[in-house]
Amino acid sequence: MKLYVNPASPFARKARIIVRELNLTEVVEEIIVPRAGLGDAFRAINPLGKIPVLVLRDGSTILDSPVICEYLNDVGGGKFFPGKSLLRENSGHWRALTIAAIGDGICDAAVARAYELLRPAELQSEAVVQKHLRAVAAGLDVLERVRFTDKITIGDIAAACAIGYLDFRIPDLGWREGRPNLRDWYEKFAQYPSMKATWPAALA
Ligand code: BEZ
Repeated sequence: MKLYVNPASPFARKARIIVRELNLTEVVEEIIVPRAGLGDAFRAINPLGKIPVLVLRDGSTILDSPVICEYLNDVGGGKFFPGKSLLRENSGHWRALTIAAIGDGICDAAVARAYELLRPAELQSEAVVQKHLRAVAAGLDVLERVRFTDKITIGDIAAACAIGYLDFRIPDLGWREGRPNLRDWYEKFAQYPSMKATWPAALA
């Protein structure tokens, strides 16, 4: 299988962490695509022009990142997607997916902010930048209230990738202030070898 990634992308990082956690490095080849190679240039591989995308041995594609992560989890026999239960209204399955959606939402806003700041200075909008930062802060406030456990789910992975991206692209954000639970949880989570091996790096 071929996994198209960019080393800065928090969405690709989720899949790259699962590949490492489930020992799939022999069967998943990571292909690095620079940001300049995305968009129209990349539509032959992913019609949406985005990474990550997973191309299977039969040539078919799996996208986007939540689906790729679930597919890799199943291929590797992982437990990052808790099973559904009808016994409780909000089972572990839905909680994990909701935390993952919050993590992805933080990434959506933080990546959109980064792209806004790449526009020529005269086209940039401070109002748009602030709107994205408010979404980031609101998402972090939700994560601060999550009780993460030792049972790692796709929610934990997505939250950690979102925070890693914030530290990478907005290092002076100061998100740790007023969020002691999230700060302490992330400090531990960031020590996993799979997290260290996938630390974001800039690639134009
Ligand atoms: C970035 O450089 O920040 C970036 C690159 C690819 C996807 C998302 C973000």
